[in-house]
Amino acid sequence: MSESQTLELTATCALGLEEFLEAELRDLGVLGVERQRAAVAFRGGWPDVWRTNYRLRTANRVLVRLGTWNGQDGDALAAGARNLVRRRGRSWGGIDAGTLFRPHRTFSLRATSSASKERDTRWIALKVKDGFVDGQRDRYGSRSDVAREDPDLNLRVWLHKNQATLLLDTSGAPLDRRGYRLQTVAAPLREQLAAAAILASGWDGQGPVVDPMCGSGTLLAEAAAIALGQAPGRLRERWPFEALPGFKPEVFSTIRGEALHAPGPNVSLFGIDREPAAIAAAHSNLERAGCLALATLEVGDGHRFEPPAGPGLVVVNPAYGERLAEGRDQWRRLGDLLKNRYRGWQAVVVAGGETLGKTIGLRPRRRIPIRNGPLDARLLLFDLY
Ligand SMILES: C[S@@+](CC[C@H](N)C(=O)[O-])C[C@H]1O[C@@H](n2cnc3c(N)ncnc32)[C@H](O)[C@@H]1O
Repeated sequence: MSESQTLELTATCALGLEEFLEAELRDLGVLGVERQRAAVAFRGGWPDVWRTNYRLRTANRVLVRLGTWNGQDGDALAAGARNLVRRRGRSWGGIDAGTLFRPHRTFSLRATSSASKERDTRWIALKVKDGFVDGQRDRYGSRSDVAREDPDLNLRVWLHKNQATLLLDTSGAPLDRRGYRLQTVAAPLREQLAAAAILASGWDGQGPVVDPMCGSGTLLAEAAAIALGQAPGRLRERWPFEALPGFKPEVFSTIRGEALHAPGPNVSLFGIDREPAAIAAAHSNLERAGCLALATLEVGDGHRFEPPAGPGLVVVNPAYGERLAEGRDQWRRLGDLLKNRYRGWQAVVVAGGETLGKTIGLRPRRRIPIRNGPLDARLLLFDLY
């Protein structure tokens, strides 16, 4: 790949998942991988944009950096955007600014700000948008329309330490929306956190997977996808990058056909939940995910479930600890369950709530702090001897 074909890319993720995203990107062989806060930067060409969107299990989005400029005040924010659009000779992986910013494309623009003088993100977005359309008028004599729904160009401005960076979001709906989970229960786990939990466990794909409190089945679906080598993007029908200039359907079709490592083709899944509605949701989600035939789902008490012959992987995301004292007892009971019934297995507990699983009574091999939406959570990893 020549230097002029190289894009500066960023994959974003939930806080705490950076190491898993970094490992995934290294596996995909992209260049210049650098861990950041809630993101990993890397370099590559457009096919890497398409492949990372299709294959990353722990990312939220894949963004292309279009330019960085001084954004110390409103005038500077607008001037930088205007220059970026009207400057000739600017190109990203072979797509020049003149093609990318043609006014027939609709756009949306959102801003974030950190450690900067300007903090009002709506105002920042407005200033950059003004500069952007002024640049289009300078260059083409007309401007793009703003489209909140389904824009052709999904733009983001990150203002950090008074430096503005314009990024093109190539993912649209966040990548954790894989498309298999149409039915959920209270407090479902986001798919990329579930995938990170499985990847963090170090599970080699061998032996059964049990979730004794499976809810809508997210942990089981993600474990199956990893064991079977199913790409997380396989159920998406449309990607925003397909509408960008330079998209090559035949290359993306090859990417979709690439075989992934499948360490556990014979995996079996066991999901238990005391709520019939949860088991019904898990049933239809696993069916859509294409792994229902491997699954045994039961309404019942996860504490009474007799595990299949192991060792394997036990995963659980209980909703405990709204009140501290009550949470403590429940965590201890779960710790006893893991110790007594899953000896020799690997275990991952996704812990939220006030106690964050501190009272489980087992020593985790590792405790990984993460953010689950607005909430603090922990991934607790255990080798159950
Ligand atoms: C936080 S939810 C799990 C969400 C799940 N990871 C998902 O993505 O949908 C916790 C689940 O544990 C179930 N549960 C709680 N105690 C249980 C028990 N003793 N046996 C079986 N299920 C239990 C609840 O019914 C609930 O569906």
